[in-house]
Amino acid sequence: MTASTTIVIFGASGDLSKRKLIPALFNLFRKGRLPEKFNILGFSSSDLDHQAFRERIQAGLRQFAEYKFAQEEWESFAVHLYYISGSFTQREDYDRLSGVLTGLENGPANRLFYLATPPRFFSVIPASLRAAGLLEEDHGWRRVIIEKPFGTDLSSAQNLNRELHRVLDESQIYRIDHYLGKETVQNILTFRFANSLYGPLWNRNYIDHVQITVAEEVDVGSRATYYDGVGALRDMFQNHLLQLLSLIAMEPPASFNAHDLREEKVKVLRAVRPISLEKVAYAAVRGQYRGYLEVTGVSPNSKTETFAALRLFIDNLRWQGVPFFLRSGKALAEKITEIVIQFKAPPGTMFAEAAGARYHPNLLSFCLQPDEGFHQRFEVKVPNTAAERRSVEMKFHYQEAFGSSLIPEAYERLLLDALKGDASLYTRADRAELAWELLEPVLAAWEAPDGPPLHIYEPGSWGPRAASSTSWSVSS
Ligand code: BG6
Repeated sequence: MTASTTIVIFGASGDLSKRKLIPALFNLFRKGRLPEKFNILGFSSSDLDHQAFRERIQAGLRQFAEYKFAQEEWESFAVHLYYISGSFTQREDYDRLSGVLTGLENGPANRLFYLATPPRFFSVIPASLRAAGLLEEDHGWRRVIIEKPFGTDLSSAQNLNRELHRVLDESQIYRIDHYLGKETVQNILTFRFANSLYGPLWNRNYIDHVQITVAEEVDVGSRATYYDGVGALRDMFQNHLLQLLSLIAMEPPASFNAHDLREEKVKVLRAVRPISLEKVAYAAVRGQYRGYLEVTGVSPNSKTETFAALRLFIDNLRWQGVPFFLRSGKALAEKITEIVIQFKAPPGTMFAEAAGARYHPNLLSFCLQPDEGFHQRFEVKVPNTAAERRSVEMKFHYQEAFGSSLIPEAYERLLLDALKGDASLYTRADRAELAWELLEPVLAAWEAPDGPPLHIYEPGSWGPRAASSTSWSVSS
């Protein structure tokens, strides 16, 4: 008898399920990529029955799915959806869950538990699942996906890892970072390692610096209760930006399996030069957009940064001396996630420069969103001039090459990988801790009463001027 697969979503009545998880699962179903026999069981505290849950999901799909909603497809998907209400902390509710699962599965089954809950339940739920016998792998695999944030600092991340490892093997734990599920983020590795053209240039001999920018146009909106006290460094750097840094800077892995890939990524973080507490003022800039303090839910004297920038160095043979500028903020001019590699300029003496003329170095920029693709800037001679130069661009756009409908939502790929048991796009325990370790001094300096200045920036701008790559202090 083939085992069926059950996806249990804790926090199923929440926003993440409605906006991301269920639309991703529905799309996988439409593409025929879910296992042949599957059930999706929602578990949360809202008092709903199966029918009310399905209606809620349907409304969410109509609002958030990025594909055309077809009633017929929905009806064949909806029969796989079930719901039970319960408390994440009550032992008897897990016994009830166990009964419902046995009834639904009616035989051997694999189970994927998705923790789309507030972080305070990240260790409680696995421990309760273990106590109720729901993590035994006698009749199928058991895996747990943990949402972000994974801890709020080094010691809380270490504690969480310890608690999880008490009841789960590391191979059963899938710490999610939705950036790794983005098609264009995965393309960084394809671009770097499938094109031998760039390989020889990818080092300190040819690269002047790298800029990684995740700019958001949205402000904190209605998320102030989560965001205030958390800030950009915890919300965006510990996970997304440092993941992008690893992908740009890592050595080629022996293979793309989870072990080899994650090992190389972790080595990058191990080689990042630690920022000492005294150097935070030179290596980091923080900002807050004007008007943040008036947002409902924000404490009136909040020092929470809505913008952060870091300058990092990777002290290994490949990158010694090359600065990596990482920036992210809210309420900025545009939504754009971009990585720009700036190459070194050739010796100026070769070209007779007009007074004041600037040489434009070659740039390679990856636009990860919203206009996915990349640009290569290079210099050409302007026709019919003695030696005038101009910068021009070679461009690749996903939309032109493949049509936008081929770019799936990040959660689709990640859910599918977890169902297949492929953890290569998930975060390993040691990586989560290393990333916190790196940020600890910055967090400490910014939380100190006499910490470095918090720059106020205008909403709709590009953030504090102090964070532009030309404004950094040379003292490292
Ligand atoms: C989330 C952060 O992880 O990523 C949000 O909590 C942020 O604050 C979001 O807005 C950005 O994701 P994306 O995919 O829109 O770039």
